[in-house]
Amino acid sequence: MSNNIVWHDHHVSKEERSQLKQQQPCILWFTGLSGSGKSTVANAVEAKLHALGRHTYLLDGDNIRRGLNAKLGFSDDDRIENIRRIGEVSKLFVDAGLIVLSAFISPFQDDRDRVRALVNDNEFIEVFIDTPLEVCESRDPKGLYKKARNGDIPDFTGISSPYEAPVNAEIHVKNSELSIDECADLVIIYLKNNGYV
Ligand code: ADX
Repeated sequence: MSNNIVWHDHHVSKEERSQLKQQQPCILWFTGLSGSGKSTVANAVEAKLHALGRHTYLLDGDNIRRGLNAKLGFSDDDRIENIRRIGEVSKLFVDAGLIVLSAFISPFQDDRDRVRALVNDNEFIEVFIDTPLEVCESRDPKGLYKKARNGDIPDFTGISSPYEAPVNAEIHVKNSELSIDECADLVIIYLKNNGYV
């Protein structure tokens, strides 16, 4: 970053924007293996929040990688940059007063912690979509595990690239033991119990 860039404070603050919406903005950060159900659960949570009259936005790995991050691949460095950018975008949405749902494998604890550090203490909620690799692989919704096992996709998370499970996630969802609705309710209950909605 150039030394000649100065942060510009705007007239309307995050607090004022949030107040207008009558909500407590935050990042719900969904992490888990490919096929673990991150997007599905995030979608269900967003639908429930919308029904409660909350203003949300869902950022999703596959979609962001088609646009903003189209030039990034799956090396460690590219994943780190992917998550760094998503973290910054998520922070902007929080500043806009929204409840942002970010669903990315985000395999490295350090990267998730860096996003956590970008916002205030109560603004980052880590949601671990904990689905065993065998289950993700048997689901294989995009046929990617099969390709990865055949050696057609290098650096595939869980097969040839690591996944660091969260150690202290605020919400731990054992996706393969629950219905989608039950998974989503776990998140909604957390938000209600902690005064977010
Ligand atoms: S992350 O590791 O950088 O957080 P991200 O969530 O953006 O990953 O993208 C993951 C999605 O990209 C997977 O759900 C899958 O559909 C697709 N994908 C393609 N190649 C790979 C790979 N090598 N490892 C993991 N996912 C991959």
